[in-house]
Amino acid sequence: METIGQYFTAQPVSDMMVSLFQQDTPNRVIDLGVGHGSLLYAAYNRYNKADFYAADIDKKVISKISERLPFVNALHIDGLSKGLSKQMKLKIGSVDIAVCNPPYYRLDKTTELKDLFNKVGLKNSTKLIKFTSDIVFLAQNLQMLKKGGELGIILPDSAFTGHEFVGLREDLLTNHNIRGIVQLPDKIFKKTEARTHILLMEKCGPIQKRIPIYQSDFSGNIGEAVNISADNLLYRMDHSYYVWKELNKYSDDIMTLGDLNVAIKRGHKTKKYLQGKNIPFFHTTSFPSDIKTKINLKNSPVFDDVSTEPGDILIARVGKRCIGKVAMVNSGNQVISDCVYRVRAPKKHRSRIFRELISDKGQQWLRIIAHGVCAQVISKRDLLHFPLNIHS
Ligand SMILES: C[S@@+](CC[C@H](N)C(=O)[O-])C[C@H]1O[C@@H](n2cnc3c(N)ncnc32)[C@H](O)[C@@H]1O
Repeated sequence: METIGQYFTAQPVSDMMVSLFQQDTPNRVIDLGVGHGSLLYAAYNRYNKADFYAADIDKKVISKISERLPFVNALHIDGLSKGLSKQMKLKIGSVDIAVCNPPYYRLDKTTELKDLFNKVGLKNSTKLIKFTSDIVFLAQNLQMLKKGGELGIILPDSAFTGHEFVGLREDLLTNHNIRGIVQLPDKIFKKTEARTHILLMEKCGPIQKRIPIYQSDFSGNIGEAVNISADNLLYRMDHSYYVWKELNKYSDDIMTLGDLNVAIKRGHKTKKYLQGKNIPFFHTTSFPSDIKTKINLKNSPVFDDVSTEPGDILIARVGKRCIGKVAMVNSGNQVISDCVYRVRAPKKHRSRIFRELISDKGQQWLRIIAHGVCAQVISKRDLLHFPLNIHS
């Protein structure tokens, strides 16, 4: 049932998550949104003396868990509910280990949820534009854990890389101890392309200065960690970005696109709208296959929207396969769709910017920086960070 976010974790990934906990003899382990129970099963294999508690909103899931994992106290309850601890017959702050792969759907921004965020040290997260179930599950787990209790939770990419989640990252880095992050391979979950990561943390602290970031393969094998200072992790927490940075000796004071007085704009109108107008327009499907040739575009009729001029550079800002495609306009004033950025740079910098964007390293950077849950997106903020002198 996709509406309640039923995407199940493969056993090797669950085993890997559990192997990364520090505790050896926890008394109590919980899994909110237990699904088929692979996370709890992994925990049982490591901690067979603990007491196990599972919650799920799906009755069928709970009766299967009771059959397959009889050692679990399996409860048919709403993991989002304010009365969770009462319903689980567990005191708030009494759990040693929590494992979780929460569902993802939108929720109303209620005072009750804001109170919960404030209580568990996620006060900046009360300002999130939208509330989603995954962040509420994170908060519910934090509430149930004792101080020093450990949580392993699988969250969507945006929590680790999106600008809108800087506040959440700050909350986690200042009020809790992030013990590590594991980027999971793309397409790890059947039926969804969402990129995800495991967040491993300890409730409250003490806070570590450098945090290990790993990449896992489909079999749950994790490579060597890159150790990143907590301050840098506010910007991004993904393994691929930091590995790319290390490989390319990218330092934070490098010259970027943002230093060159460029104006970046995206189109405002959707492909559908522009098709309806029956005019020539530039969309992600319009990029030429040979990225080195400059393009000649037909003029769109005078139209109140973002359109091209000779010398403009166009970049695909959204989409899985076309992300980061680049083209330079040789001629034509054509309207661009909302999936395309127009970079307008001073004449003296244009050729250099274009060359760097289409270089192998530039193309790699654009793909790595793209983030998002399903469709990949490059934000304008990220584009302004495009590094300029590492491509020669
Ligand atoms: C992404 S699946 C993960 C299942 C399992 N933990 C795993 O890792 O394979 C999310 C689970 O949360 C359950 N769920 C969705 N909304 C829920 C809610 N409000 N309360 C409790 N469980 C919920 C779904 O039924 C589903 O089993």
